[in-house]
Amino acid sequence: MGGLEGKVAVITGGASGIGAASVRLFAQNGGKVVVADIMEDQGQALANELGTDVVYKKTNVFFEEDIKAVVNEAFARFGKLDIMFNNAGVGGVTGPVDETNMEAFDITVGVLLKGVFMGMKHAALVMKPRRSGCIINTASIAGLQTGFGGHTYSACKAAVIHLTRSVAMELGEFGIRVNCICPGAIATPIFAKTFGAGHEDALKSVDGLKDIFAGVAALGRSGFPEDVAKAAFFLAGDDAQFISGEALKVDGGIGGRFLSDEDTKNKMAAALGIDPEFFGAL
Ligand SMILES: NC(=O)c1ccc[n+]([C@@H]2O[C@H](COP(=O)([O-])OP(=O)(O)OC[C@H]3O[C@@H](n4cnc5c(N)ncnc54)[C@H](O)[C@@H]3O)[C@@H](O)[C@H]2O)c1
Repeated sequence: MGGLEGKVAVITGGASGIGAASVRLFAQNGGKVVVADIMEDQGQALANELGTDVVYKKTNVFFEEDIKAVVNEAFARFGKLDIMFNNAGVGGVTGPVDETNMEAFDITVGVLLKGVFMGMKHAALVMKPRRSGCIINTASIAGLQTGFGGHTYSACKAAVIHLTRSVAMELGEFGIRVNCICPGAIATPIFAKTFGAGHEDALKSVDGLKDIFAGVAALGRSGFPEDVAKAAFFLAGDDAQFISGEALKVDGGIGGRFLSDEDTKNKMAAALGIDPEFFGAL
């Protein structure tokens, strides 16, 4: 199977979850990929597993110099950058608005919004002269409606959706497409990590989440990282060549209630081993 032959991608947050599934799918379909992530062991292991067309570069999307460096890495290793997938994310600061720690707020915005903005900036810098390229951002259904994440997370994701549309308008004349994906409830370690679990413990929480998420999607099953990776693969490829400024939901037809639903909130808290009050006001 092909589809991305000769294309070079940077995938931030590529060491786990949606990002790792995308790295695999892109590489299995002819793409060359730079895995950009703060998790060195997992990122390097994935690159080792997938062979010479996948490399790992330690990257913290909070820092502009790291984003610049990972774009340079794509050029150094593979000679160009065709696809920038700004996917890295954290659950970020949670809790009631009047108890929000502003340092944690700044870090959350730095990763979820500024990190995506800087990813688009440095992709545009190298894509404009070539008059071609594809930028994909991971937003969330939390950016479309309330009740799917903390206030700061939701606001950042809403901003990513609007930035996607706005930047798409600017870059279209340079042959650069800009889209975002809005995943629904996808079983990954991000939920447990939000409440302090390390990566290995967070991985163990994923099975429990699958059952809960199956109950909130119209399609009756949890979302998986591979579901979102397939959407990114489509948007990255030539079949999507007339699609730009789009926010593509990948949520199995999720309804309007999730963490605002007491029953789901309690089940989630049990699966993550936390007090439901930690979810705060949503
Ligand atoms: N899982 C879901 O239900 C869901 C729903 C909607 C949106 N999303 C979004 O999908 C994206 C991927 O999340 P996931 O669910 O695969 O979670 P995940 O925890 O499995 O993956 C997130 C990855 O981002 C990396 N990361 C975190 N901070 C970083 C930083 N500062 N610099 C570089 N890398 C960093 C992590 O190390 C990890 O590899 C995130 O943007 C998340 O907000 C997830």
